[in-house]
Amino acid sequence: MSMRMPTNVVDIAKNVKEILSDAEGGHDWYHIERVWKNALNIHRHEKKGDLYIIQLAALLHDIADAKFHDGDEAIGPETARKIMTQHQVPETVIEEVIRIIENMSYRSSFSELPYTSVELDIVRDADRLDAIGAIGIARAFNYGGFKNRPLFDPNIDPVEIISKESYVKNTGPTINHFYEKLLKLKDMMKTQKGKELAIERHEFMCGFLEQFYKEVR
Ligand code: ADP
Ligand code: NI
Repeated sequence: MSMRMPTNVVDIAKNVKEILSDAEGGHDWYHIERVWKNALNIHRHEKKGDLYIIQLAALLHDIADAKFHDGDEAIGPETARKIMTQHQVPETVIEEVIRIIENMSYRSSFSELPYTSVELDIVRDADRLDAIGAIGIARAFNYGGFKNRPLFDPNIDPVEIISKESYVKNTGPTINHFYEKLLKLKDMMKTQKGKELAIERHEFMCGFLEQFYKEVR
């Protein structure tokens, strides 16, 4: 790679891989690696944003997700800070990465005063790409299985998600998650490359849903 690549990015990646060794299948090291690669790809086309910050945010964004820690929203940023401090990341960079991590999740998209930056847009698009398409389908059903949710229930309709609370406390069937969130992501992409890559994945999900309902009805 010709880009500036501080050696501690690779050290931090190794550290993250160890920490996530028993993570849920949709939020494991390979999710992080895909987001990291997606982010590098988007950055290459955008030609904007600090690549060091982008990579650290991609690597650390799911290090301790609140949904696997009883809703504790402090544990992710705290863990990310600890790791960056151990690897001698400068304080100004740590602050920036933490702000990105705090504002990346879908939960945060309901916040009234959303934080924005080029780096956030790139890493969030990279993460959203991994929530859609074939990999998105696999991750959604794995998460639903992990939470012991039904695949499909003809008596429970998708709900309108209008707040962080309604998003977090929703326990509906996994198929509903496509209508509640995943199908909306294509139009929420911020970067040009992200938008482009989202189209094919979005269409694949639409085809999947069509076939799914053909089979279950
Ligand atoms: P959150 O949406 O909780 O802020 P993420 O954006 O990281 O966090 O969500 C990541 C992924 O977790 C989703 O793309 C999806 O694969 C899975 N997921 C989250 N909530 C659900 C759900 N209710 N049903 C199925 N999958 C889910
Ligand atoms: Ni993620």
